[in-house]
Amino acid sequence: MGFCFSPASRSVSMFPNVSVLLVLLLSCSFFASTEAYDALDPNGNITIKWDIMSWTPDGYVAVVTIFNFQQYRHIQAPGWSLGWTWAKKEVIWSMSGGQTIEQGDCSRYKGNIPHCCKRNPTVVDLLPGTPYNLQIANCCKGGVISSWVQDPANAVSAFQLSVGSAGTTNKTVRLPKNFTLKAPGPGYTCGPAKIVKPTKFATPDKRRVTQALMTWNVTCTYSQFLAQKTPTCCVSLSSFYNDTVVSCPTCACGCQNNATMPGSCVEPNSPYLASVVSNAGRNNPLVRCTSHMCPIRVHWHIKLNYKEYWRVKVTITNFNYNMNYSQWNLVAQHPNFDNLTQSFSFYHEPLMPYGTINDTAMLWGIKFYNDLLMEAGPSGNVQSELLFRKDASTFTFEKGWAFPRRIYFNGDNCVMPPPDAYPWLPNASIRWGVSRFSLGLILLVLVLHSGLF
Ligand SMILES: *[C@@H]1O[C@H](CO)[C@@H](O)[C@H](O)[C@H]1NC(C)=O
Ligand SMILES: *[C@@H]1O[C@H](CO)[C@@H](O)[C@H](O)[C@H]1NC(C)=O
Ligand SMILES: *[C@@H]1O[C@H](CO)[C@@H](O)[C@H](O)[C@H]1NC(C)=O
Ligand SMILES: *[C@@H]1O[C@H](CO)[C@@H](O)[C@H](O)[C@H]1NC(C)=O
Ligand SMILES: *[C@@H]1O[C@H](CO)[C@@H](O)[C@H](O)[C@H]1NC(C)=O
Ligand SMILES: *[C@@H]1O[C@H](CO)[C@@H](O)[C@H](O)[C@H]1NC(C)=O
Ligand SMILES: *[C@@H]1O[C@H](CO)[C@@H](O)[C@H](O)[C@H]1NC(C)=O
Ligand SMILES: *[C@@H]1O[C@H](CO)[C@@H](O)[C@H](O)[C@H]1NC(C)=O
Ligand SMILES: *[C@@H]1O[C@H](CO)[C@@H](O)[C@H](O)[C@H]1NC(C)=O
Ligand SMILES: *[C@@H]1O[C@H](CO)[C@@H](O)[C@H](O)[C@H]1NC(C)=O
Repeated sequence: MGFCFSPASRSVSMFPNVSVLLVLLLSCSFFASTEAYDALDPNGNITIKWDIMSWTPDGYVAVVTIFNFQQYRHIQAPGWSLGWTWAKKEVIWSMSGGQTIEQGDCSRYKGNIPHCCKRNPTVVDLLPGTPYNLQIANCCKGGVISSWVQDPANAVSAFQLSVGSAGTTNKTVRLPKNFTLKAPGPGYTCGPAKIVKPTKFATPDKRRVTQALMTWNVTCTYSQFLAQKTPTCCVSLSSFYNDTVVSCPTCACGCQNNATMPGSCVEPNSPYLASVVSNAGRNNPLVRCTSHMCPIRVHWHIKLNYKEYWRVKVTITNFNYNMNYSQWNLVAQHPNFDNLTQSFSFYHEPLMPYGTINDTAMLWGIKFYNDLLMEAGPSGNVQSELLFRKDASTFTFEKGWAFPRRIYFNGDNCVMPPPDAYPWLPNASIRWGVSRFSLGLILLVLVLHSGLF
C-alpha cells in the first residue's frame, strides 16, 4: 500500500472530484496503521544523543539527550522510559536528571555502591520539583516531551550518568546496544548507536565553543501498528446544507461486546462508573459505550457559507473516563488549508512535508484555555471554528469536497466514515462551473498517469 502516501497521490487531492479519491484515501487509511512510515511526517524520529563530557578513572560521564524531532507526536504523562543493554560489565555510579527504575544486584561492590548494576538498565525522567542538586538542563519533566511544532523548547529531555567498569578512551569505550524507548507504551523501534561528530557547545556568552569528547546517536521511529492494533479515534461529519449527521463508523475502534467482555465500556450514568474509574489503573482506557467505541471522536461540521469564505466547526470529544489529554494536537488534511484565514480557539501551523503541497495543518489548544482535553463527561470536549478563504477554481460543496481527507489525533490516524455516506447537497444547488464528467476524466488521467493501477 506504499502508493497511498506518495506525493503523487497527494497532488491528486487538489482536484474537486473526490469520490474516487476518498475511496483511495479510505482504503489507504485502513492500511495506514500497518506502516512504520508516516506520510505527513516522513522524517519524524526521536534521536537519542550520548555526549561523553569527561573520562573518569574507570569510565566516563555522559549527558544523554532525547530530541523529539516529530512534527506532531508528543510523549505525555507518565512519560518516556529508555532502556539499553551494556556491551560489557558497565555499571552506573550515579545519575542526575533521571534514575533507573531498578538498582539490580550490586553485591560485588563494597563501600561505594553504584546507582545501578543491571546489564539492561531502564531509565525514567525525574518529576518536576526535584531538588536542584539532582537536576540538569532539560530534565525533570516527568518524562513529558512536546512535539517539535507545538513547543520546540520543550521537545527535548536529558539526563546525566557516570558510568564505571567501562572503557576510558574513545578507542576502548563500547557503545550500549539494543535501545528501547517506551512512550510510555510500545510503538518506537530504535536503531543501533552510531558514532557521530562530537557535539559542539557554545558558552552562554557565545565567545567560546567547547566539544564533547565523543558522541553517538540512536534514532527511534514510531509505528502506529506497533503501538496498538486498533484505532483510537474516529471522525463524524455534518453540514448546514443537509440534516444528516454522519456518525463514526460502527465498531471503528472496537465493538461493544457485553457477553465476552463485560465492563469493556461504561454507560455515562451508571453507578458502576464511579467505582471503576477509581479502581482502573491510570492509562487503562475506560471508554463510554458508543457504537464506535473510540476514546476520541473528531466532528467536522460545515457551518456557514459566505461569498468569499466558508466556515467549519471542529469539535473533539473525549469518551475516555480515565484520561486527560494534555497538550493534545490534531492534524487535518484538506485542500483548502492553503487558505486557512483564521482558527478561532486553536493554534494552527501549516505542515508541508513535501515542501510545495500546503494542504495539511496542525491544530492544538491554547495554553491554560483548552490545551487540556478533560476526561469524558461534561468538560470532555474542545472546539474551534476555522475560517477558509474560497479559491474559486477549486471550491465546491459537492461530493463531500468540503470534508477533511485525513485527520490525526495525537499522531494517530482517525477512522473516517465511508464516502458514500457523506451528507449530500440538496439537488437544486448542484450547479458548478466545470462538469463533473470532465473533472472525472482529468482525475482518471491523473490516476492512470501516476501509475496507481
Ligand atoms: C531525524 O530527524 C531529524 C530532524 O528532522 C533529521 O535531520 C534526521 O535526518 C532524522 N534522522 C533519521 C535517521 O531519519
Ligand atoms: C579519538 O580521539 C583521538 C584523539 O585522541 C581522535 O583523533 C579520534 O578522532 C577520536 N576518535 C573518535 C571516534 O572520536
Ligand atoms: C533487547 O531488549 C529486549 C527488551 O529489553 C530484550 O527482550 C531482548 O532480549 C534484548 N536483546 C538483546 C540481544 O539483548
Ligand atoms: C546526532 O544527533 C544530533 C542531535 O539530535 C544531531 O544534531 C546530529 O545531526 C545527529 N547526527 C547524525 C549523524 O545523525
Ligand atoms: C451492552 O450493554 C449496554 C448496557 O449495559 C447496552 O446498552 C448495550 O446495548 C449492550 N450491547 C450489546 C451489543 O448487547
Ligand atoms: C483530570 O483532571 C482533573 C482536574 O485536574 C482531575 O480531577 C482528574 O482526576 C483527572 N483525571 C484523570 C483520569 O487523570
Ligand atoms: C500555507 O498555508 C497557510 C495558511 O493556512 C499560509 O499562511 C502559508 O503562507 C502557506 N504557505 C505557503 C508556503 O504557501
Ligand atoms: C490560496 O492560497 C494559494 C497558495 O497559498 C494562493 O496562491 C491563492 O491565491 C490563495 N487564494 C485565495 C483566494 O486567497
Ligand atoms: C443528505 O445526505 C444523505 C446522505 O448522507 C442523503 O441520503 C439525503 O438525501 C440528503 N438530504 C438531502 C435533503 O439532500
Ligand atoms: C435528488 O435527485 C435524485 C435523482 O437525480 C432523486 O432520486 C432524489 O430523490 C432527489 N433528492 C431530493 C432530496 O430531492
